[in-house]
Amino acid sequence: MDFNLSEDDKLIQETVRDLAMNKFAPRADEIDKKSIFPEQNIKELAELGLLGTILDPAYGGAGASTISYSVTLEEIAKACASTSVITSVTTMVGLAIQRNGTEEQKEKWVTKIASGEIIGAFCLTEPTAGSDAGSLKTSATVDGDEIVLNGQKLWITNAAHAGVFLVMANENPSLGHKGISAFVVESGSEGLEIGAPEKKMGLNGSHTCAVFFDNVRIPIENRLGEQGKGFSIALASLDTGRIGIASQALGIGEAAYQASVNFAKERNQFGQPIYNFQGVSFRIADMKMKLEAARLLTRKAAWMRDKGMKHTMESSMAKAFATEVACEVTQNAIKTHGGMGFSKELPVERYHRDIQATLLYEGTNDIQRVVMVKNIFK
Ligand code: CAA
Repeated sequence: MDFNLSEDDKLIQETVRDLAMNKFAPRADEIDKKSIFPEQNIKELAELGLLGTILDPAYGGAGASTISYSVTLEEIAKACASTSVITSVTTMVGLAIQRNGTEEQKEKWVTKIASGEIIGAFCLTEPTAGSDAGSLKTSATVDGDEIVLNGQKLWITNAAHAGVFLVMANENPSLGHKGISAFVVESGSEGLEIGAPEKKMGLNGSHTCAVFFDNVRIPIENRLGEQGKGFSIALASLDTGRIGIASQALGIGEAAYQASVNFAKERNQFGQPIYNFQGVSFRIADMKMKLEAARLLTRKAAWMRDKGMKHTMESSMAKAFATEVACEVTQNAIKTHGGMGFSKELPVERYHRDIQATLLYEGTNDIQRVVMVKNIFK
């Protein structure tokens, strides 16, 4: 068993780390405080081919491993968590089209996602269908050679900036989730309306909006995969997406841990650096230990995906564990910083706000446990 990153993965890690630390980190505070969409960050990631890391080279991707994708998101999240979720969701949409699309669909959209020309939005959640995603109500009706979409999506990451929307909608509600199909809707389609960005606790650079479909007409060729397979397409996409969220959490947690180490070395009390006190240093040792355990779980899920193994359960375990560990780490980073941890002058309070969403999106951690239980007792 080899726990080292491959040479290719290391190279990607160094490239992203350099970009994230030198360019993204200095911008992160303003992005957060002014809720600015990090357009420049996305452009710079695209220029280095980092938006299509795991997409197929046949469609402009880098064809890199899932481990490198995880490492990429971790490095981005250390500097700017908003940028990492924008990247993660875009990749999830690109992968869904790549895995289920026709040659024409892949040529049309995966290439644009891989090059960074467009970003993607994943439209599953609705006002009355969050955890119970299979009960979604957005309807899709065939009308000649077109599909007509009606309904509303909620909490849609990237909605205000996306070029493509992957939309799960029901073609035959009497079949329940088996009536759901997936569709690709392009921005600018008539009847497609984007709501105002939600006012959130964190991840302020990632604009999350409602999306409204009022008789939106798309060509029937925009159905992705088989009719009635949309729910499975969505859940399979989340199997990879959840590795992305685990990686994002690792990045936020790692940033909080590093800040704590630095602070504990620099801050003197009772005539000595505070890391000399075991109450502080043991807490930091626990941060390191738990983050490393979370990283191993995340890398294992990524490795299984690379090997073509089913990884639903491992993705859920990684997502739940990494996000909960990182939440604890960010909380303990605030404790370690004392009053400065509560101040907006330092980024630790942002880490603690940003991490909260990772416990909730791409399936709450209660839902991850539902997935685990389904796999344990199947
Ligand atoms: N891959 C492919 N297919 C899968 C699957 C998987 N991992 N898991 C289940 N399926 C299939 C099943 O085989 C079944 O298919 P058939 O009916 O054809 O046999 C079908 O899906 C339904 O399976 P279940 O009966 O297990 O489904 P369920 O209704 O009980 O729901 C659930 C399961 C785990 C609760 C699921 O609804 C779920 O994950 N909910 C959370 C939704 C979620 O994660 N939303 C995130 C929104 S996206 C987001 O947050 C992105 C962002 O912006 C950051």
